[in-house]
Amino acid sequence: MTDLLVVGSGFFGLTVAERMAEEHGLDVTVIDRRDHIGGNAYSERDAETGIEIHRYGAHLFHTSNERVWAYVNRFSAFTSYVHRVYAKHRGEVFPLPINLGTINQFFRAAHGPGSARALVTEEAAELGDSTPQNLEEKAISLIGRPLYEAFIRDYTAKQWQTDPKRLPADVISRLPVRYTYDNRYFNDTHEGLPVDGYTALLERMADHPRITVHLETDFFTSSEFGKASTVGNVPIVYTGPVDRYFDSSLGDLAWRTLDFEREVLPVGDFQGTSVMNYSDLDVPYTRIHEFKHFHPERDSPADATVIMREYSRFATGADEPYYPVNSPDDRDRLLRYRELMPQEPDVFFGGRLGTYQYLDMHMAIGAAISTVENRLVPRLVGGDR
Ligand code: FAD
Ligand code: NA
Repeated sequence: MTDLLVVGSGFFGLTVAERMAEEHGLDVTVIDRRDHIGGNAYSERDAETGIEIHRYGAHLFHTSNERVWAYVNRFSAFTSYVHRVYAKHRGEVFPLPINLGTINQFFRAAHGPGSARALVTEEAAELGDSTPQNLEEKAISLIGRPLYEAFIRDYTAKQWQTDPKRLPADVISRLPVRYTYDNRYFNDTHEGLPVDGYTALLERMADHPRITVHLETDFFTSSEFGKASTVGNVPIVYTGPVDRYFDSSLGDLAWRTLDFEREVLPVGDFQGTSVMNYSDLDVPYTRIHEFKHFHPERDSPADATVIMREYSRFATGADEPYYPVNSPDDRDRLLRYRELMPQEPDVFFGGRLGTYQYLDMHMAIGAAISTVENRLVPRLVGGDR
């Protein structure tokens, strides 16, 4: 039927498909249960305004991996967009990540790097040498109480629907504070957005004579490309949820999901920037995206803008799984699912859902390239082919 079945057309699945078709000459079938390719990186034009919307949340491309950067540039040029985030707290707007500008505005001071560092170090010493027992204590030990309470506490509570005192300390390992005025969000060598959008880039990856894509085709229900008729007959790269593959026989892995509320407003510019975080509990959403700011180089309507409010909560049932909760129970369950994988030697688990791991786009692409080279080629592209 086909040399390789790829379940899921996100960046992981499409990178595998493209490499195996173009570099290794296999006929590849890609299925996706959604009605579009691209997984969560998918973008679309808003019908009313023509503004490009990231349907599953704002996606910023950044990487320090030269190979990945060269790879994506084969399918699209990138703009010079540089991501910056601001946060609204008690009626004031501050730059993030916490930097010298944030600190001086917050403390109404004019610290230089040295005295700001001394101040934060002193405040971070509040709890002495005791081991942090929860996220709140951990955060205070990293940046001190005032900055924690302003910029971390309520935002984290909204993300997790849980008081940070009741979240484990290991949810955070570090909280970056910059002792300069640099508020560039990412530290990577390369950053930018695909000039004509993510979907155009993703479509070019899939546009290969050896690649066939079937949308609205679910691996668990399709008769032609479903699990029952394919496993054992064709090699499979599976990028859907790992627990679902095994019928959740060891229980569900927990995820957080997001709700997005999209609105077209009759103003040229709503917030003056692409992402505004809402640090306080009095607004229920965590942030607002305003998409026209991702592409200032494009023409966009002078009298309309599209914003998207983002709400965070635990996923249940049919919700889209977005971020792994990754509790000790989840990690234990994941290990036990992994022990089942060798029973399926020609099913290769990959991607965000298939490995229960948060992956940025560049990480998903890098992992897919490694999977091709280290696992698929040795097994599927024998010398006698
Ligand atoms: P996905 O994109 O999730 O693709 C998996 C695909 O598998 C989906 O299309 C799904 O429909 C399909 N599928 C699942 N089950 C089945 C089934 N049973 N049958 C058929 N198909 C199935 N990365 C960045 O680099 N920068 C960002 O700013 C960024 N922001 C993000 C914001 C959010 C809210 C989220 C959730 C992710 C963000 N990411 C970002 C990460 C980025 O989305 C991922 O790196 C990328 O999507 C990983 O690709 P993937 O192929 O592993 O998974
Ligand atoms: Na094709």
